[in-house]
Amino acid sequence: MHTTTIETLLDEMTVEEQVSLLAGEDFWSLPPIPRLGIGKLRVTDGPNGARGGGGLVDNVPAAAFPVGIALGASWNPALTEEVGAALAQEVRSKGAHVLLAPTVNIHRSVANGRNFECYSEDPELTAALLVGYIRGLQGAGVGATIKHFAGNESEIQRTTMSSEVDERSLREIYLRPFEDAVKKAGSWAVMSSYNRLNGTYTSEHPWLLTDVLRGDWGFDGVVMSDWFGSHSTSETVNAGLDIEMPGPTRDRGDKLVAAVAAGEVSPETLRARAGNVLRLMARCGALHDTDPHEEVANDLPAHRALIRRAGAEGTVLLKNTGVLPLGKPAAKIAVIGPNAREARIMGGGSAQITPHYIVSPWDGLAARLGAESLAYAPGCTNHRWEPLAKADITVDFFANSNLEGEPVHSETMRESQAFWVPPIAGGKVDPQDFSARLAWTFTPERTGRHRFGIHSAGYSRLFVDGRLVADAHDSWTAGRTFFEEGCDEVVGEIDLEAGRSYTVSVEFVARKSEMLAFSAFRAGIGRPLGDAEIAAAAEIARNAETALLFVGRSGEWDTEGSDLQNMRLPGRQDDLIAAVAAANPRTVVVLQTGGPVEMPWLESAAAVLQAWYPGQECGNAIADVLFGDAEPGGRLPQSFPVRWEDNPTQSQDPEVYPGLDGKVRYEEGVFIGYRHYEAKGIEPLFPFGHGLGYTSFALSDMDLIPTPDGAAIDVTLENTGARRGSSVVQLYVGDRHASVPRPARELRDFAKETLEPGEQRRLRFDLPARAFAFYDTDAKQWRVEAGEFEVSAGFSATDIRCSVTATQTDALLPR
Ligand code: BGC
Repeated sequence: MHTTTIETLLDEMTVEEQVSLLAGEDFWSLPPIPRLGIGKLRVTDGPNGARGGGGLVDNVPAAAFPVGIALGASWNPALTEEVGAALAQEVRSKGAHVLLAPTVNIHRSVANGRNFECYSEDPELTAALLVGYIRGLQGAGVGATIKHFAGNESEIQRTTMSSEVDERSLREIYLRPFEDAVKKAGSWAVMSSYNRLNGTYTSEHPWLLTDVLRGDWGFDGVVMSDWFGSHSTSETVNAGLDIEMPGPTRDRGDKLVAAVAAGEVSPETLRARAGNVLRLMARCGALHDTDPHEEVANDLPAHRALIRRAGAEGTVLLKNTGVLPLGKPAAKIAVIGPNAREARIMGGGSAQITPHYIVSPWDGLAARLGAESLAYAPGCTNHRWEPLAKADITVDFFANSNLEGEPVHSETMRESQAFWVPPIAGGKVDPQDFSARLAWTFTPERTGRHRFGIHSAGYSRLFVDGRLVADAHDSWTAGRTFFEEGCDEVVGEIDLEAGRSYTVSVEFVARKSEMLAFSAFRAGIGRPLGDAEIAAAAEIARNAETALLFVGRSGEWDTEGSDLQNMRLPGRQDDLIAAVAAANPRTVVVLQTGGPVEMPWLESAAAVLQAWYPGQECGNAIADVLFGDAEPGGRLPQSFPVRWEDNPTQSQDPEVYPGLDGKVRYEEGVFIGYRHYEAKGIEPLFPFGHGLGYTSFALSDMDLIPTPDGAAIDVTLENTGARRGSSVVQLYVGDRHASVPRPARELRDFAKETLEPGEQRRLRFDLPARAFAFYDTDAKQWRVEAGEFEVSAGFSATDIRCSVTATQTDALLPR
């Protein structure tokens, strides 16, 4: 439809104009070409909301949806499609055309800081969910940008690390979601990753961006770099990278014009790249969008309801001795834990948004039962950094790095953190050469020891009443914060008096960075909690009918830019759970994390519910599940190992994880997640696919019907319990005699079904030949080997209820 227009426009464009479309003008948009009436393409971050322009904090409010792993746990592509469609409205409300989402890297290690943002350890589950998400988004005219292509399964030195992955593991596991994004969902854009793949930056990887993506899969959209992830001129353009982001350009513009003049980039290649960008613009309505950029906050009732429902649908009931669902309480309920009054709605990094509002577990329970029915104790803390201060904070900017002279710009902030991207201070300072002084008043509620923490991408110092308390200036060294551009938190302690006002001030000086061009800091104030707080929590639990414990992590831990260093609950949460469970046998542990944790207290807990980061309706969604208004609809999208040492990348060899000398070697090949636990004979704490409901199900009468292209499977699902409920039937295939090492069982299809008590349903699954194939690296095709395959149906990777044998003949299938 748009082909003629695009070809005509390309004919009319000068080389300079074509080049101009191949790099950002600023952080979030491309330059328009007014002479030809070409508008401005705008993108915004996702995947759990549309943040809009600006930095990472303090944006125009947006709807906060469940994070990737929570949607992964829903096992419901129809739900991700609804979420995608709602996100399209959000993207439009932020004046943008393209969402930088979904994130579909695979949970290789339990440690990856970004697992919360990705769906699963399994490529088929990931693929099915992203197809829904992209259809929802693009069906409403907003472009998806599937990311990060490829091999970005860790945040350690991610901008330089080379992921060393063999082709079979790439094709079967890591590229698999991208393949369906292109072939089934028709994704309009792809984002290359930061890392190198087998030695070459993915942004200049011809095999990845051209041979596989466009050649094998037929992609006709745009490939853009991750932010500052493009490092060359002709190499990236020739390899297939259409857009360098963000702007202003570092390697294109005049450099690319010169490369074309020198014959390093052909006019045909340039035209093809510019044509791809125009095609994307036509698809998402940006081609003639010359409207001024406007961002609005649309807090829609329909989005609120969808987020609440989606949140409940992703919660996974890991254990239940019968205490859940809760009935109408006859006595007080104890609400305990560091996540009880803090709404943990999302992870950290570029997926952060400013939500319209947040509902904490306490808020959700109080709305349902009345605050007078609840008793509260925090018990302990679980933060990584001291809590943010909320105050009227004055900021004075100086156009030098010494805080000298008169400020050139002043503003106020409401939280003790900033993430500055150009233009900074209304454009009055050089982003690489400025300083700022911030100040606010702090009045402690309690007398005693207080902790002041600061960390920054840039140099910073924190003072209390003029006295230096925390210094991240003179001794600044790179740490695991702010995308590895910041230092680790520096904490100082000081005794303060309740009711007295103190002036807290922060001095910030920008630091020149080779990689990412931004400045940021985060300061916080906390109070150490100890044994007395745990004892107080146990005491209120002892006197309550039921103890609800809200524990876990937060976006400080589950975040882009740093991996986890262990699988334990942070702080003293294990001690707190043990003490509360000892005081009250009806203790329900509600976990909020972006992945598994060790559970030394599991035996003593009456129930454990994994609620992830479910978005702005957090507390309402959790309360709906606890009281049975909604069922815990989730099933684990990632295996939960007993111990950190059990996880697939926990080899003794640091090159396997976290990487050594710039390389991380995917030694385990295709044996990740449940494929690994099965092969190594390690029993997980909770297997992939596990999750309880409030009713029970049975599977029976499995039949196989050979088809010209594989097999069809029929199986009967029955709700054998007394409540309406849903179940996820999982279909696994295993090759009994393969010539290459193959997992015993691999997920090939699934269905989420809701049944009335006693209801039976006959389900049909179609397994094409590809469901039986492995990638043959010699033949460079998918190969089915003649012989017997076990096809099994069950409720988790280890809870298999029926199996049949499928006999296949030899076949080679195209890439
Ligand atoms: C992330 C991307 C994100 C981009 C823009 C990068 O740090 O890896 O996922 O879309 O920033 O914020």
